[in-house]
Amino acid sequence: MTPEDIKIVRSSWRKLMGIDPAILGDVFYTKLFTEQPALRKLFPADMTAQHKKLIDMLTSIVSGLENFEKMLPEIKLMAVRHVGYGVKTAHYDMVGKALLWTLEKGLQHDWNDKTKQAWTLCYQTLANVMISAANEKTI
Ligand code: HEM
Repeated sequence: MTPEDIKIVRSSWRKLMGIDPAILGDVFYTKLFTEQPALRKLFPADMTAQHKKLIDMLTSIVSGLENFEKMLPEIKLMAVRHVGYGVKTAHYDMVGKALLWTLEKGLQHDWNDKTKQAWTLCYQTLANVMISAANEKTI
């Protein structure tokens, strides 16, 4: 990611944080489970806590993007925990699509090609690290 991408991701995330995280989380998981109903069973029945965990984690990743290396140990541990939740490599694409869709809906007129490109890169970078860490663990 270029410094410009990081700036775009950070400022668009700040705008999104004007939306109640419970609502944002609800939009994201509703989209995910509508498109991928099979994923619902991986998650707890009550999703209230999950909304906040996801948003908090994304907030800390977004704010640490300049020093991505520093976050690697924490991200890798999180990836290994995800193996235990039953998460597979193919799921990362599904989650990425639902996330991008949620960002687009939440940002409305602030969503454009540059924002899309920056977030795509951001998610891919994160997902690649998580997928590699998960595979290292399971091989
Ligand atoms: C790549 C970005 C992702 C981020 C930032 C993220 C973040 C989180 C966080 C912070 C938690 C709380 C528990 C923990 O830290 O271990 C969690 C739990 C979970 N995530 Fe993710 N996740 C990501 C990708 C995925 C993917 C691709 C799936 C596949 C469906 C997934 C499914 C789950 C499930 C099933 C739980 C456990 C819920 C529970 O039993 O409490 N996550 N995620």
